[in-house]
Amino acid sequence: MHILAVMSGKGGVGKSFVATGLAAALQRRGGHVAVLDADITGASVPHLLGVPRGAFADGDGRLIPGVSADGIRVVSMSLMASADDKAVVWRGPLISNAINELFTQTAWGDSEYLVVDMPPGTSDAALTVLEQLRPEGVMIVTTPQDMVTRIAHRSHDMVRAMGGNVVGLVMNMAYVVCPDCGRRIEAFGPVRAASESGLDVLLTLPLVPEWATLADTGHVAEIAPAEFDALAEAVLARMGSNQETSETSSADGAPASSLSEAGGPAA
Ligand SMILES: Nc1ncnc2c1ncn2[C@@H]1O[C@H](COP(=O)(O)OP(=O)(O)OP(=O)(O)O)[C@@H](O)[C@H]1O
Ligand SMILES: [Mg+2]
Repeated sequence: MHILAVMSGKGGVGKSFVATGLAAALQRRGGHVAVLDADITGASVPHLLGVPRGAFADGDGRLIPGVSADGIRVVSMSLMASADDKAVVWRGPLISNAINELFTQTAWGDSEYLVVDMPPGTSDAALTVLEQLRPEGVMIVTTPQDMVTRIAHRSHDMVRAMGGNVVGLVMNMAYVVCPDCGRRIEAFGPVRAASESGLDVLLTLPLVPEWATLADTGHVAEIAPAEFDALAEAVLARMGSNQETSETSSADGAPASSLSEAGGPAA
């Protein structure tokens, strides 16, 4: 099973939105796709993919994932909650254990790809995903504000320090298109050039009010299919292939070397 983690330094930038959009694209490609909602206290994946609450175990006591209308398998704490607005109030170690359990105690079946929606930040839970699940690739989601982009780079540093492979960045909510005049409004300030960030920008998405509605009603899979399909191709091309080159240098081309220039070698 190929594991891809979606990370951001900051909350609310659209990590779960992008993670589920990407999962939908991988599923369209014909893959058997699963999503692990590693955001234990802020679980939102079932909501975005329209997976109803409820958790069941197989004969061996392993968790059976919920399934979206498109066949995406989903495992999330919110499937087990008695109501959507019930808070999970747990300390770090318990959260780390829960992530581990959800990963190791689920019957993933023939899932080919596992997209992991990570909690925001670079603390315990993020460490657990990187250490225990050992994703083949990590994608970082950010919005264009300078402060948010800087925080996203801390995630990049963390992944590199742990010997992981950052496949690139998605710049989300980068602009709004005026419905009357068609003008592009960069509400969070100018979208900086990819070269300036040191990370490859794999996709730039606008903020579209209709998308927010689709996401909120469990229809993420219908959002920007062409864009997410292209993102899936870009991510797959970079998964696994530049594990070594991000540490050393250039064997397989430009993308890896531009990643390795971003922060110097990991300590
Ligand atoms: N490009 C977009 N256009 C419109 N709405 C968007 C876009 N990206 C995300 N959203 C909406 O913004 C909200 C925040 O997105 P999301 O929940 O994916 O962020 P997150 O980074 O996962 O947050 P958290 O850190 O709380 O997990 C959601 O309601 C989502 O549907
Ligand atoms: Mg989220």
